[in-house]
Amino acid sequence: IQKGIEQLDWKAIYRQKRTTAQEAVKHIKSGDRVSLSHAVGEPTHIIEAMVANREAYRNVEITHMISMGQSKYAQPGMEPYFRHNSLFVGGTTRKTVRDGHGDFTPCYFSEIPNLWHRTMPLDVAVIHVSRPDEHGYCSLGVSVDYSKHAVKEANLVIAQVNSQMPRTLGDTFVHISDMDMIVEHDAPLIELAPPVITDVERAIGEYCASLIRDGDCLQLGIGAIPDAVLLSLKNKKDLGIHSEMFSDGVVELVESGIINNSKKNFHRDRMVATFLMGTKRLYDFVDNNPMVAMYPATYTNDPYVAGKNDNLVSINSCVQVDLLGQVCSESVGTTQISAVGGQVDFVRASALSRGGRSIIAMPSTAAGGTISKIVATLDEGAAVTTNRYDVEYVITEYGIAHLKYHTVRERARMLIHIAHPAFRDGLAESFEKRFRCKF
Ligand code: COA
Repeated sequence: IQKGIEQLDWKAIYRQKRTTAQEAVKHIKSGDRVSLSHAVGEPTHIIEAMVANREAYRNVEITHMISMGQSKYAQPGMEPYFRHNSLFVGGTTRKTVRDGHGDFTPCYFSEIPNLWHRTMPLDVAVIHVSRPDEHGYCSLGVSVDYSKHAVKEANLVIAQVNSQMPRTLGDTFVHISDMDMIVEHDAPLIELAPPVITDVERAIGEYCASLIRDGDCLQLGIGAIPDAVLLSLKNKKDLGIHSEMFSDGVVELVESGIINNSKKNFHRDRMVATFLMGTKRLYDFVDNNPMVAMYPATYTNDPYVAGKNDNLVSINSCVQVDLLGQVCSESVGTTQISAVGGQVDFVRASALSRGGRSIIAMPSTAAGGTISKIVATLDEGAAVTTNRYDVEYVITEYGIAHLKYHTVRERARMLIHIAHPAFRDGLAESFEKRFRCKF
């Protein structure tokens, strides 16, 4: 009944719940587990207030997927107050996790609500939303992913309401009645400049494009490679999007008519995603745009849902691939540098999709050309992200290896052919030792 009243008379309730960030964070208690909206949807104003209020806390656990902000709560000196439990390690949290001041919990993006429900119950959800509409609903904007579930799971919901958060459509809305404390703070979202594309990425993009047909539905992962792929699609037509995320490159292809979602058999005419990262151009494009349908990751990334798209092509990147086709996308040896995200979900979705294909694309080398990303065996302690039973295509700037349903020797040969020439002899030697035959 209370909820019904709050829904009807939401403006009065909104005024009652409105407070400052400084006041709101006083309700977080020592030992609480706090989830934050992630990526460019980080509620930065409330995070700042939490950090400023740190002396009042002991051991507050902060959990989220990738952080695109400063992650001050995870920096040296913060250990007594905060403990970071990362679901996706990023640039500002790598050192914390590596040095033992934080934890990493492996979890598919699509399963984070299960994680909270079963083993990591949430005390507090800090979310970042648009201004309410005339019915009292705020949109989760650029970061829908797990936030809607966080609202359901947490005992206390603190929302940063920001007029600059775009109102994205789909299953993105949270009602004022589901929030406990409302902090109005208008500020630009974090922006992510488009990555620099070198000749290497351009060549990789061209190879990926050669596997993409008119009318395909694309999933694009994180990093420079997906953007390079988009640049190589200028001669395609009628492409669609069902992705975990997308960035500015997609907007350009929509504006030039190449992405129009017209051939999608599932969510026809709509681009589906769960979070977005880019510049203001992207955020303006998605604002109130019915062409963009945002859903929680439990839906977008569920392989059985995404796999309903015919001709789904997933394109993701990685750190290393060994000669069996085992793909490490999240660690350098024992050091966790990112996480699975939606990679495996979408590799499997592509396998379930009629006409689907999955691509792991990467430059052939790392560290300025000194390290081969194709290796005889994964580095000691490296995590297998996409396993050899799931992997399908691997692409470098030297070509395409189609691994699925091929013998281990065939896989190894194909991979050595697309390795950087400087490393092929060494890999061939490893091949001969391992498989006891001539390369
Ligand atoms: N050996 C040693 N270091 C390596 C390496 C290797 N084989 N491969 C990469 N690195 C290092 C890079 O040098 C870089 O280090 P730096 O940050 O100190 O410069 C770091 O690892 C990240 O590599 P980079 O090539 O810059 O990353 P990227 O931005 O292109 O992202 C992944 C690549 C694999 C990290 C990223 O795609 C990822 O996190 N994937 C997993 C999740 C995913 O696919 N999600 C998809 C759905 S959105």
